[in-house]
Amino acid sequence: MSDEALQALSSLDALDSRALEAWRVEYLGRRGRLTRILRGIAEMPVETRREIGEAGNRVKALLEQRLSEKELEAKAGGVAVLDALDVTLPGRTLATGRLHPITQMVREICSAFEELGFQVVEGPEVEWDRYNFDLLNIPKDHPARDMWDTLWIDHVDENGERDMLLRTHTSPMQARVMEQTKPPVRVVVPGKCYRHEATDATHGWHFYQIEGLAVDEGISFANLKGTLYEFARRMFGHDRKVRFRCDFFPFVEPGVEMAIDCFACDGAGCRVCKQTGWLEILGAGMVHPNVLTNAGYDAERYTGFAFGMGVERIAMLRNGIDHIRHFYQNDMRFLTQF
Ligand code: DAH
Repeated sequence: MSDEALQALSSLDALDSRALEAWRVEYLGRRGRLTRILRGIAEMPVETRREIGEAGNRVKALLEQRLSEKELEAKAGGVAVLDALDVTLPGRTLATGRLHPITQMVREICSAFEELGFQVVEGPEVEWDRYNFDLLNIPKDHPARDMWDTLWIDHVDENGERDMLLRTHTSPMQARVMEQTKPPVRVVVPGKCYRHEATDATHGWHFYQIEGLAVDEGISFANLKGTLYEFARRMFGHDRKVRFRCDFFPFVEPGVEMAIDCFACDGAGCRVCKQTGWLEILGAGMVHPNVLTNAGYDAERYTGFAFGMGVERIAMLRNGIDHIRHFYQNDMRFLTQF
């Protein structure tokens, strides 16, 4: 009965005082349903009286409490209705959410590569040093490890050496993908990376990268150039020129740094390109045979190219943003511009 009563009460309009009174009479009144049950206790066997009496009183207290809550609701609601309803006020616009500018950029870059035949895969942010370094042709104690200031996790291998870290780049996924699939491989890997680094205008201790890897028979440097050139044109406009210069990364040979002619000044020199006419946008190269061999691929038969880029950097260049920290301060004045 108490469920039925509560249900009936909740369906009533709090402002309809007649209906509330009718409800009170029906359940709690002198001849109400609950009152009749409680009165009937006297006729019941002695053993059950106590139990039923107690239950009845609990129900009574509950119903009374709910009724007074409903009456309070009526007061609050009634006043609010009278005072606050200004039908001439314009409606409130609901704030709609949107994707973070970095998420938008990640998606845009990935779809450019998807259209070129690449698949998108993701990997772990907590990584073994084996994937982050060893398999990428960066052995233990090799000075090339210093290129990445690493945040290590408190974990040691059987020799007592640290072996777990926050990945310093998305490149470990090259090794993980090759370990799990046979060629041909064409993947892009977006994800968060971490470095033990002081924040300045273009560096943060966490940031996003997008890695790319293509491995197959007969892949040459021309494929690397063609793919990245097409990507640059899609992202930065169809008149873009690209420039490749030698660079060193242990997992590629040869390694390059790719730049585009500055889209703000068409290469004439301006603030965006720091008067150089060029903007470096990514690192790339032909996959080092050691990396292929480490992954169990036949380096005589297969070749490939790889590339890696910083997403914040690309978003900053494209949108003229002067400090990386803007992305991570949750300032709506900044975020709602995208
Ligand atoms: N992992 C490099 C870094 O974080 C970027 C990079 C350079 C990735 C060249 C590559 C590559 O795949 O071929 O500095």
